[in-house]
Amino acid sequence: MALPPAFLDELRARTPLHGLIGRKTRLVRNGRQWKGCCPFHNEKTPSFYVYDDHFHCFGCGAHGDAISFVMQTEGAAFPEAVERLAGEAGLEVPRATPQAAERERRAKDLHGVCAAAEAAFRRRLTLPEGREALAYLRRRGLSEATIARFGLGWSGEGRGALAADLKGEGITPEQLVAAGLMKPRDPDRPEAGVVDMFFNRVIFPIRDRRGRTISFGGRILGDGQPKYVNGPETELFSKRRSLYGLDLAREGAFRGGPVVVVEGYMDVIALHQAGFSGAVAPLGTALTAEQLEALWQVSPEPVLCFDGDAAGVKAAGRSAELALPLLAPDRSLRLATIAGGEDPDTLVAKGGPAAFQAVLDAARPLSVALYDLLAGASPPATPEQRAGFRNRLEEAAKAIPDRALAAEYKRALLDRFFASGRGARPAFAPGGKPRPAWTPGKGRGRPGELSSIAGLQRVAIDQPGIRLERARNLLAILVRHPAILPEVEEALGALDLPAGECQVLRAALLRWLHVADVLDSQGLMDHLRQAGLESPLAWAVRSMGLSQAAHPEAQPKDAIDGWWHFFGLLRGEAELVEDRAEAQRMLVETNDPIAQQRLIRLQEALNALRGGEADQPGEPAAAPTGHIG
Ligand code: UTP
Ligand code: MN
Repeated sequence: MALPPAFLDELRARTPLHGLIGRKTRLVRNGRQWKGCCPFHNEKTPSFYVYDDHFHCFGCGAHGDAISFVMQTEGAAFPEAVERLAGEAGLEVPRATPQAAERERRAKDLHGVCAAAEAAFRRRLTLPEGREALAYLRRRGLSEATIARFGLGWSGEGRGALAADLKGEGITPEQLVAAGLMKPRDPDRPEAGVVDMFFNRVIFPIRDRRGRTISFGGRILGDGQPKYVNGPETELFSKRRSLYGLDLAREGAFRGGPVVVVEGYMDVIALHQAGFSGAVAPLGTALTAEQLEALWQVSPEPVLCFDGDAAGVKAAGRSAELALPLLAPDRSLRLATIAGGEDPDTLVAKGGPAAFQAVLDAARPLSVALYDLLAGASPPATPEQRAGFRNRLEEAAKAIPDRALAAEYKRALLDRFFASGRGARPAFAPGGKPRPAWTPGKGRGRPGELSSIAGLQRVAIDQPGIRLERARNLLAILVRHPAILPEVEEALGALDLPAGECQVLRAALLRWLHVADVLDSQGLMDHLRQAGLESPLAWAVRSMGLSQAAHPEAQPKDAIDGWWHFFGLLRGEAELVEDRAEAQRMLVETNDPIAQQRLIRLQEALNALRGGEADQPGEPAAAPTGHIG
């Protein structure tokens, strides 16, 4: 028995082709498709392309879909290839029963029934009885070509019109019921007969991704309830799997247009007419996981468009929550908002394509939009609120199954979280501006006010000054105890240091590390003076405000502890957490004592930072004790 086409479609849709083929040959993304060396013939320059639903080799002509790929590369017969792919996709292969064969025959028939019904509805739109409907569509700004492209029609005024139209083609009322075009007048009394699903409505054919009509929506002319009626679930039509306009959007996306999810039939149509041919809409329900999967088959980063009102924000939140467990590096989202109570249809009617383009241009990556959604309407302000918010951010990142991506999300979310808590930390701002340069002595407080609220505020204002002092300590420790350079080299290199002396000194230290025979302090200081760095050196080792760890007589252990302490304070919590995760991964992979050491250091640095940024003896600047400089 042939398998039901709907099952095979589902199987193909659930099998990411580049993933399957990527196991046999290395693929790289090439625009919207993937490209690699053909697994079917020997070649050195890639001429093999993988699209969302088929592959093609321009060298040897090999061509096919996921099923034929398995057949060709593994010598599997069709049923075996299907069986194998179904296993991976978590699908059950339908068994060859007489009922299944019957269902298949009916499905084939149902496509025919839907096609015949669409033709009948379209014909009626052109008859005198359809005049009002046509005028309505014209009034809403639709052109002849748009009406034809979407196959819009008119249902007829009275009951039984469709059955009468299709009788001549041998289509029975039972078939119309199966296709969702008629329904029992009274489900409890079959003898009462069947009635039309749609009457006195403009008809919107709903198509599957291959462009076959599988159901219909109907809109009342003008005002009235319900405004839209949608076809019921049938053997062809599953509301949660379908997207209105997907057949056209695949083409639009292939030509490079963005895929945009909007709310309604008319939005999709108006956007297509305005040139946004990647527009699709769910069918009156919130977006489902199945619909997201279908979108990702067409585009790695579809844009979801929401109203700016409270309901729109809620819907955006639901979609984000739905998407997180499904995200991968090549499967993401952007979120766009339409303000002012417009929908895409009314927006392009008033502002033309440029108005909607502006909405798309302002679309935010999910990682960014997610933060605002989780923050809620008013930014968390108290420690309790902020702690709760931070937990929500971490939970959201944890919902992403791809480890690398989850780590990136966590970092991006927490960076912004910490930035929001420390008003003056531009280091964490996306695309951040350079940190303001430190002016010596600026903002220095009078000793008397230090424990007051004003004193605490002063510390916040002094952040750049505090950072600079910490960086100076970190560098001074290295100048006095250069033997620890090899251990800290990598961490030092990665650190975001204030511009000016700090960065100059760091560069010089790292250069020296690679040429010096012996790592001794005197040799290093001589080298720095010879390199013309006399004054940064003097600044770094000026004794006022310097930590014990930077004293020449400090024990090596204290020096290194002190160094990691300042590193932790300068690095920032989000980065430290990331560094620690990375070190943990390294340790698991290499089981190397150096990795172990690094992990311990990072943990200590993190502890130091989390302990309220407590200062070890001699650290001058982090607490409002007032002897900066
Ligand atoms: P909207 O009420 O936003 O309608 O519903 P719209 O698309 O802007 O329609 P126009 O512009 O007034 O013609 C959005 C979608 O919700 C579903 C439909 O799929 C509609 O396109 N809907 C709405 C229903 O299923 N039933 C309804 O009664 C209303
Ligand atoms: Mn509308």
